[in-house]
Amino acid sequence: MTAEFVLSGVCHAYGAGMDALEGIDLTIEAGQHVAIVGANGSGKSTLLKMLDGLVFARAGVIEAFGHALTEDALEDPAFRREFRSRVGFVFQDADVQLFCNTVFDELAFGPLQLGLMPEDVRTRVAETAEALRIGKLLDRAPYTLSGGEKKRVAIASVLTMRPQALLMDEPTNALDPRSQVWLLDVLEEWKRAGRTVVIATHDLSAAAESCDRMIVLSEDHRVVADGAPEEVLARRDLLLSVNLIHEHAHRHGADRHVHPHAHEHEHA
Ligand SMILES: Nc1ncnc2c1ncn2[C@@H]1O[C@H](COP(=O)(O)OP(=O)(O)OP(=O)(O)O)[C@@H](O)[C@H]1O
Ligand SMILES: [Mg+2]
Repeated sequence: MTAEFVLSGVCHAYGAGMDALEGIDLTIEAGQHVAIVGANGSGKSTLLKMLDGLVFARAGVIEAFGHALTEDALEDPAFRREFRSRVGFVFQDADVQLFCNTVFDELAFGPLQLGLMPEDVRTRVAETAEALRIGKLLDRAPYTLSGGEKKRVAIASVLTMRPQALLMDEPTNALDPRSQVWLLDVLEEWKRAGRTVVIATHDLSAAAESCDRMIVLSEDHRVVADGAPEEVLARRDLLLSVNLIHEHAHRHGADRHVHPHAHEHEHA
C-alpha cells in the first residue's frame, strides 16, 4: 500500500495557550477508512484541516502523496491543483461550505473546476444527488434548506469531485437515521473503489460500522489509541479517561448502579 498521508512529530497551536495537536505520528495508507474520535476540543477538526492543507504544522512534518504539505508547496499552482483534485473536505459546519445560488451549482462547482465537460458534470451531479436523495432540491437556494439537507448537499458537493481522499468532519451530524444509512452506503461503495476516507466523529457505532481503523485523540491533543474499531472500543477505561464515554448513574429498584455509557447511550 502507498501512504496517502504521513505525519511525523506534528504539533499545532492556534496561539499561546491554544494547543490543538501534540506530537502526532500517523500514517494513513491509500484505501483506508479511518475514524478520528475524541472529546470536544481534542483536535479532530484541526487534524482534518491539516490533511486538507488549511492548517499547517507548527512543528514536525506532514506529507501528502509523497510531497511535503506546506504553505509554500501549496503556493505552486500545479501542486495546488493536483492536491485539490485529490483531496475533498466536508466541513463540520455546512454553512461554511455552501456558497452557490442553487444546489445544482453547488454540486457542479467542483467538477467544473476540474475541467470536466458539462455533460459529464450533469451525469455526476445526477448520480450523486440520487445517492444522497437530494434530487428534488437541485433548484433550491442552499440557504433555504434545513440543517440536515444542507449537510447532505455539502457532502454531495465534495463527492461529485470523486476525490481520492475524502475528509469529513462530523458527516453524520444533523443527519436523520435514514440519511445516515444512505451515507454509509455511499462510503461502502467508496471502500470498494479503494478510495481513502478519514472521518472525525462522535458517533462511535457509525465509526465502527464504516471504518477499519479508529484513532483516539486525548484531551491533551495526543493520539492515545490507534487500531481496529472493535479493539479500541473494547478499551472502556481508556474511553472513559478521554471522555468519549461517561459514567451514568442508574436506579434499578432500590439499587443505584454506575455504568459506563457511550455517547449514543449504548449499554455496556
Ligand atoms: N480558530 C481557532 N483559534 C483558536 N483556537 C482554536 C481554533 N480552532 C480550534 N481551536 C482550539 O484548538 C483545540 C482543538 O480544536 P478542534 O476544533 O480541532 O477540536 P475538535 O476535536 O474538532 O472538537 P469538537 O468535537 O468540538 O468539534 C481546541 O482547544 C480549540 O479551542
Ligand atoms: Mg471539530
